[in-house]
Amino acid sequence: MTIVLGIETSCDETGVGLVRDGVLLGQALASSMEEHVRFGGVVPEIAARAHVYAIVPTIQAALDDAGLTLHDVGAIAVTTGPGLATALHVGVAAAKAIAAATGLPLYGVHHLAGHAAADTLDHGPLPERSIGLIVSGGHTSLLHVRDLTRTPIEHLSDTLDDAAGEAFDKVARLLGLPYPGGPVIDRVAAGGDPTAVRFPRPLTGRTDSRLGFSFSGLKTAVARYVERTPDLDVADTAASFQEAVADVLTSKALLACADQRVDTLVIVGGVAANSRVRSLAQERCDAAGIELRVPRMSLCTDNGAMIAAIGDLLVRDGAKPSSLDVTVHPTIELQTAQLV
Ligand code: KG4
Ligand code: ZN
Repeated sequence: MTIVLGIETSCDETGVGLVRDGVLLGQALASSMEEHVRFGGVVPEIAARAHVYAIVPTIQAALDDAGLTLHDVGAIAVTTGPGLATALHVGVAAAKAIAAATGLPLYGVHHLAGHAAADTLDHGPLPERSIGLIVSGGHTSLLHVRDLTRTPIEHLSDTLDDAAGEAFDKVARLLGLPYPGGPVIDRVAAGGDPTAVRFPRPLTGRTDSRLGFSFSGLKTAVARYVERTPDLDVADTAASFQEAVADVLTSKALLACADQRVDTLVIVGGVAANSRVRSLAQERCDAAGIELRVPRMSLCTDNGAMIAAIGDLLVRDGAKPSSLDVTVHPTIELQTAQLV
């Protein structure tokens, strides 16, 4: 059985993981998040430079974590897109260098397919058909997933404007909370009342797009509320905003399951780490008789294990390796797991 080394550098996390036959053998993660805090968001050049420093030690740390050496590795998978071009280039250069030096096969993979594959490390192979809700800093999509590596992924909807994670980050800033906003809002909201403010549920009217998402209006509603509320309760506002996002995400995901007559929902990406998204999704899936799959929190946010996981699925499917000419695709939409 081939051991796949996965490398992820699409944003501010340098992630490396090792997977064999659906089993996570070891992983390591370095983050430049702290360096971006004072800018209120990820600065691509700073992220790229941090990847350059972190990539070799992180590969070594992942190998150490698994008790392996590079000689044990049988294939390399690397995120080639989407993401920050400067950051992606570092991982791709490292992966190509290892492939060129060792002769190991190289697989360029789509970051979002990696997010979906992460769940297989916790819950085994995906069923024949599932609905995927991808909620990250850059994407919010409902997908009809058949075979992750063989059948093109069907987009049922994407966000019209901000991604869910982006909304968390922007609302955190409005509330005077630091970047990244998602985990902070999650923490602050725990002490607040989610029914304190009834924020709008965008695109849930009868004439609206049934599965479409939009978060910029919700963000503006929070901004207006903050402006006109001098004695603002940050915890109540955070909890009410989080409730609105969780409500919209989970209700639309369940509509997609019903529309497609699919009985498995998989939620992945950074916002899948949100405690309210997880609990409300569980409540609603239980009520509807839908099986909910959400990976452990550390596999929701960006990591290398998810890239090794999708690489492992491709290798086991007998996919043809990418060429050493493979390059970065900063804005590519998710259709196929492998990017050649
Ligand atoms: O998937 P990810 O790590 O990176 C991208 O591919 O974008 O997602 C990062 C996003 C950020 O916007 C972050 O604020 C959000 O996920 N996030 C959360 C939580 N943890 C991370 N949002 C809500 N609640 C959380 N607990
Ligand atoms: Zn991601």
